[in-house]
Amino acid sequence: MKHLLSINDLSSDQVQEIFETAADMHDVQRREVKKLPALRGRTVINMFFEDSTRTRSSFEIAGKWLSADVINISAKGSSASKGESLRDTVLTVCAMGVDGLVIRHPASGAAHQVAQWVDAAVINAGDGMHEHPTQALLDAYTLQHRLGSLDGKHVAIIGDLTHSRVFRSNVLCLTKLGARVTVVAPPTLMPSGIGPWSKEAGFATSYDIDEVLPDADAVMMLRVQRERMSGGYFPSAREYTVGYGLTRDRLARLRPDAPICHPGPMNRGLEIAADAADAAQSVVLEQVSSGLAVRMAVLYHLLAGEES
Ligand code: CP
Repeated sequence: MKHLLSINDLSSDQVQEIFETAADMHDVQRREVKKLPALRGRTVINMFFEDSTRTRSSFEIAGKWLSADVINISAKGSSASKGESLRDTVLTVCAMGVDGLVIRHPASGAAHQVAQWVDAAVINAGDGMHEHPTQALLDAYTLQHRLGSLDGKHVAIIGDLTHSRVFRSNVLCLTKLGARVTVVAPPTLMPSGIGPWSKEAGFATSYDIDEVLPDADAVMMLRVQRERMSGGYFPSAREYTVGYGLTRDRLARLRPDAPICHPGPMNRGLEIAADAADAAQSVVLEQVSSGLAVRMAVLYHLLAGEES
């Protein structure tokens, strides 16, 4: 594997190899081992053309704990803000000798395009409404840890599916690992063309959260991405919460052992009530912690074997 652009780049065996490496990385995370020398002499650039808290900081820590030199570039503060093209920006940084390029960009397909321009290993840290493969890996890793195995488990993914790269990567990853997936959204936030894709990929769709929730072994709530909605009908915040939010009432109807996931950042009180976000069965912070281990594993698998 040269790049990680999509979950489709990985077989189920490769996903499990990443999970095994991530489990080993917890020793570093527990600070029993301060740093691993695996990426000594390698340089990783985090290029974020969209805002991020979790993904950017965890890739930065992951690289540093593997002894790589890590540099962060964001659109604001770089020459991209002066109009430099994406191609010129990535070719410029790669001319300095970069081994790994972690990129987040608002355009779907940006990471795939960048991978064609550079020799460095490219990791997609979220491209528009397309994919966010490391988020899906950390979500599946968290759920597998909680549920033992994902094979045959029913995972409900609920929220603003139209604008969600997390949903797209998660459907690919969870079904690859044998989970039964049902995705739930209001009609206005259900992606067009989902019918043929769901048949091909083998997941179910529903508009009825209350029918799906009681049968779920795990629930993944997704953020309403109002910043990606330009016009068009959107349920009001109140309508959304009543129709599709994980409210206190719905929390009471969940299986008590069903993990509640959210990739973050959360709109508390909109798609998820504070009672659900902070419930004993919430794994939101465990996802963040797993994310660091999984991103260390991804960097290790992509870069540790390469000559610098
Ligand atoms: N889940 C996620 O990608 O969060 P950030 O936008 O904070 O990186």
